[in-house]
Amino acid sequence: MSIDLGINSEMSKKEKYLLLLEQMEYLILSEDYYLSSLSNFTAILKQSFTNVSWVGLYFWIDGKLVLGPFQGKLACSSILLGQGVCGKVAKTKKTEIVENVHNFAGHIACDSESNSEIVVPLLKNSNFIGVLDLDSHELSAFDEIDKDYLEQISTILLNKTTIPNF
Ligand code: SME
Repeated sequence: MSIDLGINSEMSKKEKYLLLLEQMEYLILSEDYYLSSLSNFTAILKQSFTNVSWVGLYFWIDGKLVLGPFQGKLACSSILLGQGVCGKVAKTKKTEIVENVHNFAGHIACDSESNSEIVVPLLKNSNFIGVLDLDSHELSAFDEIDKDYLEQISTILLNKTTIPNF
């Protein structure tokens, strides 16, 4: 079986996100096992954006961020509140766009080749449940377009997925 997302290199970033938003309806199904949905979600993003080196989810469990499904290199298995970009977002609950990770005090470098990053808070019915993290080897890979669409797409994901304890 082959699933073609229909994304091609000619498309702008916005066009890719608009297509993904439409496709979320059938790529992520409410009846699917939550780990299947979360894993496929990270694969869909990694596959769609060639400049993304790492995509993953961290969940807020027992007062820290714990690594969930991801695509990319080995990553830290837990992150404390306030630590790194993810830990900052766990505190502020606001999306953080980091144009150059080398200028972000306390950035956690899981991949030494990473140069920019975006971290989006995951909120379900106003409860903080974790973060979505994307890294790139390019500088300034992420902007307000990513923020806008990643927030929308992750909200759809959470509405269609029942994660135990959240
Ligand atoms: N860079 C993140 C840590 C997670 S990795 O990028 C996968 C941070 O500073 O929080």
